[in-house]
Amino acid sequence: MSEESESRGSDVVRRKRFSGGPARGFLSSLAADERIFAADLATDRAHVVMLAEQGIVGEDDAAAILSALDEVEAASFDALPDGEDVHAAIETAVIDRAGDVGGKMHTARSRNDEVATCIRYRLREDVLDAVEATLGLREALVEAAETHAGTVMPGYTHLQPAQPTTVGHYLLSYEQAVGRDTERLFDAYGRVNRSPLGAAAFAGTPFDVDRERTAELLGFEDVATNSMDAVSTRDFLVEVVAALANLATTVSGLAEDLVDFSKDGLAALSDDYASTSSIMPQKKNPDTLELVRATAGDASAGLNGLLTTLKGLPRAYNRDLQKATPHAWESVDAVTEAVEVAAGAVATATWNEEALAAAAGEGFSTATGVADLLAMAGVPFRKAHEVVAESSETIAKGEEHVAESNVKEFHYEALDAAAAEVLGDALSAFVEPEAVRAALDPAESVAARDSTGGPAPEAVVEGLASAEEQAAAGEETLTEKRAVLADADEKLRREVGRYV
Ligand code: ARG
Repeated sequence: MSEESESRGSDVVRRKRFSGGPARGFLSSLAADERIFAADLATDRAHVVMLAEQGIVGEDDAAAILSALDEVEAASFDALPDGEDVHAAIETAVIDRAGDVGGKMHTARSRNDEVATCIRYRLREDVLDAVEATLGLREALVEAAETHAGTVMPGYTHLQPAQPTTVGHYLLSYEQAVGRDTERLFDAYGRVNRSPLGAAAFAGTPFDVDRERTAELLGFEDVATNSMDAVSTRDFLVEVVAALANLATTVSGLAEDLVDFSKDGLAALSDDYASTSSIMPQKKNPDTLELVRATAGDASAGLNGLLTTLKGLPRAYNRDLQKATPHAWESVDAVTEAVEVAAGAVATATWNEEALAAAAGEGFSTATGVADLLAMAGVPFRKAHEVVAESSETIAKGEEHVAESNVKEFHYEALDAAAAEVLGDALSAFVEPEAVRAALDPAESVAARDSTGGPAPEAVVEGLASAEEQAAAGEETLTEKRAVLADADEKLRREVGRYV
């Protein structure tokens, strides 16, 4: 036996000894690694190009490895040989094709920096897809808000009609919240976008690697510098999933509102976003939105799973990390899909203007406006509050017996009586009766609330303009970031093309 085949023989023995035995399947992440197949090929290519440029491997060897990688890619993930993970399987496939020289691919690196690089590489794309979903939802919200800038609707606190508002105002409230989710995702993206490659197992490598070069070839903005931190940390997963959990929580509230509004006939979901009952033929159920609402559970489960897996892990690499990654994939898939569905539901929902207007005045919802009016006339707000509170008891008792056309008059009389009792004079001694009647009208009540961010149609129109501006800026950033990734991809292909 030649010395070479003897050493290969002992390597095979060693690999067999540590192949996992009965726990082989338990050890393997190969199935879950399909997600990072393309990322691993890119990482391998960038690493090999850098090794050749640094003179760590010869150009012919690099060419043989890079050609083998092309073949592995063309054969697809399903054709990979068995292995503990995608990194081992690709390496085996490269050696199968290129011979022993293929074993040089793993010079000056470890699976530890490799996997961390692959996760970050792939996650960038997923985060940008999630950002795109938030932008889509914001667009749907803005469009509906534009159509309904002046549509009066009831606003609720504690699920009780509280004050009238406009559909435009309501929808923009979610647009702003989702806008912050876009920001949080972009913010997390910046910290995902750093390259651990070259950290090796954790202690760096004696080879003269160029970490900036591999970072550049993979489109990373920066290097994750400290080699121990670079392989150990998964805080970037936590950040992304936390941003997703926040987003899913925001969207769950929107879904809940729409379920509620559709139950009350205030809004109607398109049939495409509804479902029926298998036994009750008359039913149109908002199941899609209920699933959107429930996605907050997937996201918080992911966050919890990650934090629990990572808590107390010692430095540097531990195999626990393998089980952290799927939490991120599952969260990003579930939340992105739910946000896309929410956008579709919002874009296709219709708002019942008549029912909304009628509901907007229910439950003496303009009461606060009357108190404000008295306060503007110099009555201390606390006293004004008392007058309206006093009248609201009479109103609550009598309202259902009053014809709809007489409600406003009935409210006026109750207020007048309460003013006499609390302030010792008729209401007209403090405010013009016409002003009170206007304040009692939901549409006028809304129109008066026209300061920045308020529900008045003009304020909504202003809000729309700034929402559109911010969404356009978000779109631009998204396009830029995707272009950087596409450019890097092309550049890497060009560099590889110099060898093969
Ligand atoms: N499949 C592994 C993971 O996802 C790759 C790294 C394995 N490293 C090791 N030292 N066993 O973390």
